[in-house]
Amino acid sequence: MCGIVGFTGNVPAVPILLDGLERLEYRGYDSAGVAVVSPGRGLQIQKCKGRLQALRDRLEALPPLEGTVGIGHTRWATHGEPNDVNSHPHVSQSGRVAIVHNGIIENYVEIKDFLLHKGVKFRSDTDSEVIAQLLDYYFDSCADPLDAVYAVLSRLEGAYALGILCADRPDMLIAARKDAPLLLGYGDKESFIASDATAIIAHTRDVAYMADGEVAVLTRAGIQVFDEYRRPIEKEHHFIEWDVSAAEKGGYAHFMFKEIMEQPEALRQTISPRLKDGQVVFEELNMTAEDVGRFKRIFIVACGSSYHVGMVGKYNLEKLMRAPVEVALASEFRYSAPLVDENTLVIVISQSGETLDTMAALREAKSLGARILSIVNVVGSSIARESDDVLYTWAGPEIAVATTKAYSTQLVLLTMLGLWMGRCLGRVADGEYAAVVSELQVLPDKLGEILSGTDIYQYLASLYFNQDCIFYIGRNLDYALGLEGSLKLKEISYIHSESYAAGELKHGTISLIEPGTLVMSLATYDPLLDKAVSNIVEVKSRGAEVVALTTEDHRQRLEAIASHVLTIPRTHPALQPNLGVVPLQLFAYYIALHRGCDIDKPKNLAKSVTVE
Ligand code: AGP
Repeated sequence: MCGIVGFTGNVPAVPILLDGLERLEYRGYDSAGVAVVSPGRGLQIQKCKGRLQALRDRLEALPPLEGTVGIGHTRWATHGEPNDVNSHPHVSQSGRVAIVHNGIIENYVEIKDFLLHKGVKFRSDTDSEVIAQLLDYYFDSCADPLDAVYAVLSRLEGAYALGILCADRPDMLIAARKDAPLLLGYGDKESFIASDATAIIAHTRDVAYMADGEVAVLTRAGIQVFDEYRRPIEKEHHFIEWDVSAAEKGGYAHFMFKEIMEQPEALRQTISPRLKDGQVVFEELNMTAEDVGRFKRIFIVACGSSYHVGMVGKYNLEKLMRAPVEVALASEFRYSAPLVDENTLVIVISQSGETLDTMAALREAKSLGARILSIVNVVGSSIARESDDVLYTWAGPEIAVATTKAYSTQLVLLTMLGLWMGRCLGRVADGEYAAVVSELQVLPDKLGEILSGTDIYQYLASLYFNQDCIFYIGRNLDYALGLEGSLKLKEISYIHSESYAAGELKHGTISLIEPGTLVMSLATYDPLLDKAVSNIVEVKSRGAEVVALTTEDHRQRLEAIASHVLTIPRTHPALQPNLGVVPLQLFAYYIALHRGCDIDKPKNLAKSVTVE
């Protein structure tokens, strides 16, 4: 999704803006631009379609944009095709105002009509341009730029994170936020705005997260923040724990590969603080055992891979808690008139904490009285702030669009939550509890074992990278695991892929199996190994190539029937998907590598989906 960075200070703004935009590239974009303002020269803007390098090339070929106050933007097109004109920043007709915008203005047609009748001429097809033009319109009647900003915000419907420059006030950058992420960075005689901390971490780790309705005025003297009624407020400061190296490739070819390799450490960070004397302890939860006993319904709500975590979680939580758990796609849940009340727990899962559908589902559930517990990676994100309880995954910044370490840490945290709630309800046998805890302690090491040899995945990728379609089949936890394996493959390699519950094959899907079709058969769930074996035989007898994934102790049995066998260490069944996902990540990665795909920034995808 769009990325915003803004700067006020005493040094040229453009290099800082470009560096920030480069660090936001991972969010996904199709054009980029910068604007600076300076006394005597007013607003200067450059923007163009394509990668940031195209903007850099253009800037290098021109006289430098001079100014120490500026805004930058990477655009992920929603309204209007990706082209130079539709790129941000947008400038008003008179040239007085420049803005960058993340989000969607839902009533832009109405505002545009209003301005067209006033004689305003529009240049772009975007919804965002109305903000610049409307600001300009209000500047005529408002003595203070902030008056104009508040007047405009009161007319906007939809979502926005905004950076605003005014030619008449070259000392000032104004920011505003509603339903789209924006943070403030406090430096030494310099201030920043950014969509996320990665953009400014090289300059400051002292940040504050803007809340909906807030407006900030940044000058060299510092940052003033106002609430929706224009009352000055003091923001709580947060210190970003990780440093700039965490958001850099550190010698790896791709962020995705680096993040796959970081999984043992990410798991350690997520698990260790919550295991004390053989018990799962959540000191950060306000929820009590009595609260858990009161829940009559439990939903897990999320999108994409986070939803797949929920699919694994359903199996695990139901087994550990002996209570029904429903999993819902956030985009469906929010419009389904969900049967939620004050006796409902809604577990919301999101890496970014900014996914719009997930956020909307959270708000819907909250308005119906549900208690919200979120599992989130980005500290201070919107979902985290609006939840009653938050469990943070300590995965560190995840840059690759395809999630890996965030998925893994979400998964383990959800299983730990199930274990904790099961114990609150008195429904987990002591032996079972101890067995899961003991495996949690060694899980990072077992995951590390899988990562110690990647030759087999490279070899399989060299055999199968030209496949048109790859199927994933499995039962129970392996079915849920296959959903993630299949998504990983399709999002980065662009190979069509489907994941099926293996028992469903005969009900239709098996007609798609032809000689040479590749089937990834997931057979890590021990209680259903015999069934998995039968399904392999079924597809093999129709000519499929089968790559089977199983635990080390079943290698021999599967080698007798599958074309190739991948193995992982054995762990407790509830944690087995945490190991099973790793070979699927590596397989997808090497397939995409063989196909020459842009692995970290797959086409059409964004890291954080802040539009519906
Ligand atoms: C995963 O590889 C995807 N990029 C995507 O499905 C992602 O999991 C989804 O958009 C949800 O994002 P969130 O966890 O930040 O809410």
